Amino acid sequence: MSPQTAKKKSAKKKTVTTKATKKRRVVTSTNNVKPKLYASLVVQLLSLLKDEHDLVANAANFSALLFNSLPNVNWAGFYFLKGDELVLGPFQGNPACVRIPMGQGVCGVAAQQLETIIVPNVHEFPGHIACDVASNSEIVVPLFDGERLLGVLDLDSPLIGRFDDQDAEGLNELATVFVAHEEGLGL
Ligand code: SME
Repeated sequence: MSPQTAKKKSAKKKTVTTKATKKRRVVTSTNNVKPKLYASLVVQLLSLLKDEHDLVANAANFSALLFNSLPNVNWAGFYFLKGDELVLGPFQGNPACVRIPMGQGVCGVAAQQLETIIVPNVHEFPGHIACDVASNSEIVVPLFDGERLLGVLDLDSPLIGRFDDQDAEGLNELATVFVAHEEGLGL
């Protein structure tokens, strides 16, 4: 089963009770902020994709949506599998390396292992390919058409530890929406 079809975990709402004042205060934690943001991005992505089936246009708008909506992201975009290497697709951020062989860099390893990879500190990832010196953490989500690998969605952040399981879940859901829409376009 691909990461995109993995069963969704329900977002847990944590409630913290404090006794800092005489009145009992209930403080709800913000750990559902990311799931809410990703749910809103699914709606926005569906709206962007509606009635449009040009792959480059849709991938460009998808990367712009991520880049401008997710905090602390300095690169967001695609590498598509062409032959036995990943080739740069539409993205937002600084110019990036164009071709990544399978198994190299975070993108190549995610593509080879067919798994989402979260790298809290890219400087500790053996073989990390540095495209932007500002990047300190990264997440790479493989794109699948069924069992077939289409490429990867890659996001970089200047913050150490920027990406977590909620990002992985949200980005996999967005990737599933995107690929389902592009189905049959020869990706
Ligand atoms: N850091 C990636 C290369 C792509 S850039 O981050 C845009 C990697 O190690 O595969």
